[in-house]
Amino acid sequence: MSDKLRVGILGGTGMVGQRFITLLENHPWFEVVLVAASGRSAGRTYEEAVSGRWKMSIPMPEAVKKLVVLDINEVEKVAEQVDFVFCAVNMPKDEIKAIEEKYAKAEVPVVSNNSANRWTPDVPMVVPEINPEHLEVIADQKKRLGTKRGFIVVKPNCSIQSYTPALNALKEYGPKLVVVTTYQAISGAGKTFKEWPEMVENIIPYIGGEEEKSEQEPLRLWGKVENGQIVKAIEPVITCQCIRVPVLDGHTAAVFVNFDKKPTKEQIIKAWTEFKGLPQELDLPSAPKYFIQYLEDDNRPQVKLDVNYENGMGVSLGRLREDNVFDYKFVGLSHNTVRGAAGGAVLIAELLKAQGYITAK
Ligand SMILES: NC(=O)c1ccc[n+]([C@@H]2O[C@H](COP(=O)([O-])OP(=O)(O)OC[C@H]3O[C@@H](n4cnc5c(N)ncnc54)[C@H](OP(=O)(O)O)[C@@H]3O)[C@@H](O)[C@H]2O)c1
Repeated sequence: MSDKLRVGILGGTGMVGQRFITLLENHPWFEVVLVAASGRSAGRTYEEAVSGRWKMSIPMPEAVKKLVVLDINEVEKVAEQVDFVFCAVNMPKDEIKAIEEKYAKAEVPVVSNNSANRWTPDVPMVVPEINPEHLEVIADQKKRLGTKRGFIVVKPNCSIQSYTPALNALKEYGPKLVVVTTYQAISGAGKTFKEWPEMVENIIPYIGGEEEKSEQEPLRLWGKVENGQIVKAIEPVITCQCIRVPVLDGHTAAVFVNFDKKPTKEQIIKAWTEFKGLPQELDLPSAPKYFIQYLEDDNRPQVKLDVNYENGMGVSLGRLREDNVFDYKFVGLSHNTVRGAAGGAVLIAELLKAQGYITAK
């Protein structure tokens, strides 16, 4: 029998869920043993449930084809078969909050892609290279929930992944004012061009709720743990516009930034390319070796050329130059359904396992 941790994917039939399925094929530590989704998919094999809506470019792994999809409301039935779950469901926020808490209370650790619990004070929202120390609030969360092994950890929104790591690597220079415009792929809405033909050759200057997330979530990552809760940082001030563009995968961000202590261009590039975090130190299976790459060519990063840098787990930066209004401007790119969603969550789960928060039952 495999000694891998048994994982269930709540929302495994959706865009992010399918990404989990492909990323976890042959994972050294985790094995997908269960998929749960809505009542529409429940009772069908995974293959039947996603028939005609498999959105990945690689084929569906054989190992999941015959799994019979459960309804995510069958909490006890799921709980008895898994060591932990990933969650990526498209439901009203209050329902997601309630179901994630039900799983935690059924002693199942939940690693979530959803936004519902991102501001729950004792739920850590983590990018493992940026704020792994926030995991310490899990102990307080367990006390509140009355659990021994169940808890919730979330990852931030996909939009912030293209610029927040870049700013984080420059923290010693005190970024204080940031203006960002994101150019976001349609897979961020769980869609392909076939399902969203209006997006072909089009731009839509609105993504519901995205600008507030893009402005606020980095501050929570840079927040401090105080009395068992995360208190968000107050700097830098970030203002953001989020634009949907006709790209399948890959969110780009154009960024302007002012610093307290303006670094040189060489200092910035050095800080970016030398940046390492705990996942690199621990050599976690999904950790990119080099989290950030800086591309010197004026026409990079490009979605088509660079979105899969480090298997979609790295961030590509370029176009760094001084600005005549701000100190500097640059462009960032990351894969929204890999680093920005399922891959980011897998890396969190690897960190949780490495630190003993998730164990076999
Ligand atoms: N796409 C991204 O890049 C991205 C990035 C970060 C975070 N997220 C977040 O991840 C979550 C999922 O996004 P997605 O793009 O994968 O969405 P999606 O493709 O629409 O998938 C939605 C999933 O939720 C399930 N679901 C829908 N209604 C349900 C219900 N009433 N009860 C139980 N399950 C239900 C669906 O099951 P059925 O197949 O049975 O309908 C499906 O498995 C969302 O919260 C989204 O905000 C997405």
